[in-house]
Amino acid sequence: MKYILALDQGTTSSRAIVFNRRGRIRALAQHEFPQHYPRPSWVEHDPADLWTTTRRAAIAAVADANLTGAGIAAIGLTNQRETTLLWDRATGRPLAPAIVWQDRRTAPLCEKLRAAGHSELIRRKTGLLPDPYFSGTKLRWLLDRVPGARRRAERGELAFGTVDTWLLWRLTGGRVHATDLTNASRTLLCDIHRACWDDELLALLGIPRAVLPEIRSSSEFFGEVTAIPALRGVPITGVAGDQHAALFGQACFRPGMAKNTYGTGCFMLLHTGGKAVVSKNKLLTTPAWRLGPSAPVEYALEGSVFTGGAVVQWLRDGLGLIARSSDIEALAAGVPDNGGVYLVPAFTGLGAPHWDAAARGTITGVTRGTTAGHLARAAVESIAYQVADLIGAMESDAGLRLRELRVDGGATANNALLQFQSTLLRRAVVRPRVTETTALGAAYLAGLAAGYWKSRDEIAALWQPGRVFKPDAKESARVRRQHAQWRHAVERAKNWAV
Ligand code: G3P
Repeated sequence: MKYILALDQGTTSSRAIVFNRRGRIRALAQHEFPQHYPRPSWVEHDPADLWTTTRRAAIAAVADANLTGAGIAAIGLTNQRETTLLWDRATGRPLAPAIVWQDRRTAPLCEKLRAAGHSELIRRKTGLLPDPYFSGTKLRWLLDRVPGARRRAERGELAFGTVDTWLLWRLTGGRVHATDLTNASRTLLCDIHRACWDDELLALLGIPRAVLPEIRSSSEFFGEVTAIPALRGVPITGVAGDQHAALFGQACFRPGMAKNTYGTGCFMLLHTGGKAVVSKNKLLTTPAWRLGPSAPVEYALEGSVFTGGAVVQWLRDGLGLIARSSDIEALAAGVPDNGGVYLVPAFTGLGAPHWDAAARGTITGVTRGTTAGHLARAAVESIAYQVADLIGAMESDAGLRLRELRVDGGATANNALLQFQSTLLRRAVVRPRVTETTALGAAYLAGLAAGYWKSRDEIAALWQPGRVFKPDAKESARVRRQHAQWRHAVERAKNWAV
């Protein structure tokens, strides 16, 4: 009996999960690591932390499952996307801390790109828009600011990578410098229609080609592990950005199927088949995946919300209102409603559909009667409102109405959130039996390439609903009124950090 190991390197923790043939969890290990905020609006990770916590989690999960490398058929890798690293090819030493996807330091450069009229070119080729979220301007910042970096990059001495590339490099002892199409597509440098780096975009952002990894599909042989003795020789056969992996893990294989992941941020992806749908509502067009080097690219529309579950972390770590994230549900349930309080968690600006890098967190409606319970309630509701603000845009772009939304991620343990979400969206919200969908998707991508699972149909048959949340008709008028109030609050959060 063999298993698949999924490595899920996320924004706040690294996880390793061993899955069996039925897509069920056999063992799980997780390690958190520090977040660094050296200046307002900067967010950094230590590249060494990303690697060591991943390695430790992998070793622990395999040991916990009572397995050795011989029991692992293949490894699937998935990761926080857009986070940007630059390292020395000879020594493997990073030149700077990783610049995290949430980091806003390149907002002025993005503004320049917009003002110079490059948005249309970027949209047409990459499906994205000029925003500090994506890797391209972060890499440009590193090449401009780290002494000697540009010259060394041009000479081919440096390697750029998103987190997948960095971990692949480390896992294979520096033998493989590659990424997959889903991660490449988040850089602003990749033509998503031709699935390759684009010279015009490289010139626009001043990025030398010599620094870039090779782009591969999401489901093929990438290399073998050499750097972890317990897993030496195990093939890595799946790589995808975490949101794409979650779409796969939710078995959203047909056009019109969508999922939302409630992680640090919230990310809604709608599968659009072989068609790269151009958004009229400021959503992103993104590859869903490519299942093998000669397979066609499948696409998705994406709505990206920068702060989702992280708002709960802020109540815990920033305000000290709760001791554990899971305490939020009880605190919020202690009040009958939000008391007129709205919390717009635009801590790192607003993503879709607003794209305002200068927006900042805002609390409205506070009175002398406001309590911690109201703030907790407002925080939980803010997650749901942000997701609701994506769905209309998505349906109008895709020209369809979603029947249900499949959901996953840490915050889906909160039943009150999902109930509120369903009433707000006026449709069913479905939490699957296995909610570790990101890791599961990476496992499926790896397992397909390794012949562990034979087809998508086999995988789709493994997906099972856990609990279905239906709209509460008694609450719908009130929730609709609240949604209108929320929109007012969002307008107040905009354009603040001038
Ligand atoms: O685009 C950023 C996203 O990939 C981060 O995901 O799960 O770490 O919040 P997560």
